[in-house]
Amino acid sequence: MKKQTIGAIKLVSLVALGLVFLSLKLMSASTSVDVKAQNNQIVASQDEQSFDQTQALDTLRKRIAGQENKPAEEVFKNIRMLKGVPAARLLKIMELGYARSLGVNCAHCHVAGGWEKDDKPTKQIARDMVTMAAAINNEYLKKIKNLKSETPIINCTTCHRGQTKPALNLPESPPKQGPAALGQRLPP
Ligand code: HEC
Ligand code: HEC
Repeated sequence: MKKQTIGAIKLVSLVALGLVFLSLKLMSASTSVDVKAQNNQIVASQDEQSFDQTQALDTLRKRIAGQENKPAEEVFKNIRMLKGVPAARLLKIMELGYARSLGVNCAHCHVAGGWEKDDKPTKQIARDMVTMAAAINNEYLKKIKNLKSETPIINCTTCHRGQTKPALNLPESPPKQGPAALGQRLPP
């Protein structure tokens, strides 16, 4: 009888110990998944990390010297969306409108040594985003009455704000003004 009780206690504590280990393992597994997800968002690809954007822009500006005001499609090889845009302005759009607004550098959309190539899916995505932004500006915003601006407009920065994946939620820290600062709960 006494022996059986000790045996039962041993069994129960073994099972409990097993459960503790299992849950620890599950916890560490889920943390490592979280870290990976974060890294996908934050850490740039290998070719992006080693890419020298300042030097690339320098080389390109020298290459188009004397043709700065010519339409992009006459100076570059594969222009489908930005036709009519002066060549120098195209480089500004690439640097500030695209790279900076998404928080990336040129290598996020371009393969080294071939600006005209369409090898990276992100380059075509960018073209499709131009079409989407134009539809919002030219169709949808125009239909909304009583807006503050006479010609309301959005661009890449409106959504991206320095990130490849636009946010769906506000940052964790409570805003300094508004209901949250007064201790009131915001509606979901
Ligand atoms: C978000 C994606 C994206 C980023 C980032 C980006 N580009 Fe582009 N780039 C494009 C797209 C899309 C085109 C084609 C535009 C079109 O079809 O009108 C293009 C075209 C070009 C061209 C013309 C190439 C040719 O011969 O047709 C050059 C040069 C260029 N980009 C340079 C740059 C530089 C320099 C940077 C970094 C400062 C950069 N791009 C960053 C998407 C990007
Ligand atoms: C109305 C909001 C909105 C606007 C404006 C917008 N984007 Fe996006 N963009 C998105 C969303 C949403 C995604 C998809 C993110 C995801 O994968 O969930 C995205 C994804 C992208 C991606 C893929 C990024 C990656 O690495 O996965 C590129 C490139 C991109 N956008 C470029 C642009 C450019 C260039 C412009 C301006 C011409 C632009 N976007 C304007 C909402 C927007």
